Amino acid sequence: MRLAIIGFGTVGQGLVEILRDKGEDLRRQYALDARVVAVCDTARGSVYHHEGLSLEQLLEAVQRSGSVDGYPNVTGLVRGLDSLSTIRETNAEVIVETTWTDLESGEPAATHIRTAFQSGKHVVTSNKGPVALAYKELRALADANGLKWGIEGTVMSGTPALRLGTTALAGCTIREVRGILNGTTNFILTRMENGATYGEALTEAQQLGYAEADPTADVEGYDALGKLLILAAVVFDHPISARQVSRQGITHLCPEDIRRAREQGKRWKLIAQLQRSDDGVLATVAPQMIELSHPLAGVSGATNAITYVTDLLGEVTIVGPGAGRRETGFALLSDLLEIRRSGRNN
Ligand code: HSE
Repeated sequence: MRLAIIGFGTVGQGLVEILRDKGEDLRRQYALDARVVAVCDTARGSVYHHEGLSLEQLLEAVQRSGSVDGYPNVTGLVRGLDSLSTIRETNAEVIVETTWTDLESGEPAATHIRTAFQSGKHVVTSNKGPVALAYKELRALADANGLKWGIEGTVMSGTPALRLGTTALAGCTIREVRGILNGTTNFILTRMENGATYGEALTEAQQLGYAEADPTADVEGYDALGKLLILAAVVFDHPISARQVSRQGITHLCPEDIRRAREQGKRWKLIAQLQRSDDGVLATVAPQMIELSHPLAGVSGATNAITYVTDLLGEVTIVGPGAGRRETGFALLSDLLEIRRSGRNN
């Protein structure tokens, strides 16, 4: 399976580390022989070799100098292709889209994904923008071309929250979805309960690779809002727009609020909620003080949780990592394995 990685930041590098460390197991256990033929990143440079790149040397170059320009010159190596040329003109069968998330335009990821499908290539992505804003259009394009589009990493990183809602619970009517959908804010709230300042906790979340490139998206609730748009489109099959979501972040919470909650035997959590209503879908993101006995109160750090309220099973909850380099890298791997299982990468 020949891969081109568009966007080589935290998540793209996380996937390459997993392929480097587990390549042998993946070949033996799952018949997945994943070869990275191209990496293209606006800031970190671009390299392509039709036979495949050395994962070790790619990581070594980018982690030493912040760029793949130091990748060794070998016969047949092509440098400097832009993202659209990499998608259209290389021999990659699967495009791994891991550029930055833009929840207003969905770009440049939406164009990358559209171009991939128009070029007969599968896509796996953890990029929330195009799924939140253009799910129906891009899914239809993939289907019309007989291609796969893996999106597991867009909600709760590698924790299979979307597969649970769309595959394992198929047959149930899901009436409500609620949970803790942002790792950064949950990490910050947990650290503040343990005495850290807001600034210290945010810096730590950034260092650990949880936060968005612009962490405003996390702390003001836009990231959780984006995930609600994804859940509405993917699980409810009822796309909604950002204007339909009532949103509040955590930036107004101060140490005094955290202390007040503790005194009342409660804890702050940023809760995202989606409910079917008679005339559509109600969606909200807001911090709530919840009782310590509430199941979500024990979900701490960058761990997230999602509860599906169903007609046939009642409530089903999945708890697991919501963000992170390896965790989101794994989401992409799970989508690659899905393509492998479907036998459609060649
Ligand atoms: N910034 C996001 C979070 C990454 O903190 O949850 C995962 O979507």
